[in-house]
Amino acid sequence: MTPTMTVRENVSLLPYNTFGIAVEAACFAEVASVDELRTALRSNKLPVLVLGSGSNILFSKDADALVLKNSIRGIEVVRRFSRKVWVKAGGGEVWHDFVLWAIGQGLGGVENLSLIPGTVGAAPVQNIGAYGVELKDVFVKLEALDLETGAIRHFSKAECRFGYRDSIFKREAKGRYCITSVTLSLTQKDHRIHLTYGDIKKTLEAEGIEKPGIADISRAVIRIRSSKLPDPAVIGNCGSFFKNPEVKREIMERIRERYPQLPFYELPNRPTHVKVPAGWLIEQCGWKGKRVGNTGCYEKQALVLVNYGGATGEEVKKLAYAIIDSVEQALGIRLEPEVNIL
Ligand code: EPU
Repeated sequence: MTPTMTVRENVSLLPYNTFGIAVEAACFAEVASVDELRTALRSNKLPVLVLGSGSNILFSKDADALVLKNSIRGIEVVRRFSRKVWVKAGGGEVWHDFVLWAIGQGLGGVENLSLIPGTVGAAPVQNIGAYGVELKDVFVKLEALDLETGAIRHFSKAECRFGYRDSIFKREAKGRYCITSVTLSLTQKDHRIHLTYGDIKKTLEAEGIEKPGIADISRAVIRIRSSKLPDPAVIGNCGSFFKNPEVKREIMERIRERYPQLPFYELPNRPTHVKVPAGWLIEQCGWKGKRVGNTGCYEKQALVLVNYGGATGEEVKKLAYAIIDSVEQALGIRLEPEVNIL
């Protein structure tokens, strides 16, 4: 028998955010279906906050809200074409488990997105991306429950307005929906292998793999991520804390006069600007590996802020803004957090 959903009061969110911040939710429920979601909302008067794995959120204070942990599961192939299939996955599925399922089925398209923390339902919110692939590249549509009306709404790819770590769910539709399912288009054969990102090629070459398949790519990505990014089960973190900024070409050129090694990437749709790695800027300013109280800037990847244990959200936020100010003063670029700060 499945236990029935209950709304509990004053619940610790410590197990529900990967930064490991000890705050409380005024009300909390874990919902495993659309019906349970509607039941939890029925007599609620508080603002609602939907959580996936809590892997892109920094709580700076208690949540005076009804916090809903989305645990809506299920993965099914809903359409078959000659080369592709459409797969519909519940918003509460763990993203990496979904990736492993796809690889196990011989389905390609998400292997570069291996080991990204979070859930399937959270993936479109920030259009997760890594190693040359973004969610939008395989996205077909999603279903979301309108938290105000309880109605289900469908969003096409165009309606999601995906951008770099961005979508309508971080803008106009922020906080309005709970994403209940996502449909992705994956390849059954003739997979498109993405090796453009240098580290993947190097890792595979070192293993002597010349013609990698989707499982090889996934293994390489897992190896690279594990070597650079801290495991949230061991050290609290939310992956990249800041976005890589897009800056005017002149600004990049001015910095390069002083630091000719500054890496940058062309933006095909914005020739006046280039993208520069925030991790590099932060490292130049001396923050990499620096510990401040219980928080710090990770020693192997400066873009990641960590909780060494017992940090408050305020402490992490203070460190984040100290880094933002210091990079702006030294290099004239104001970084923006990628993590949702509450
Ligand atoms: N770099 C440094 N010092 C650092 C970190 C990075 O100099 O401490 C420089 C290096 O020159 C390196 C470049 O930055 O060549 C890029 O570094 P990396 O390949 O580690 O990627 P990133 O730009 O720091 C982005 C994403 C990651 C994603 C990787 C790989 C963002 C905000 N972050 O990081 O995504 O895994 O590329 O595609 O775009 C996340 O969003 O949480 C995340 C981990």
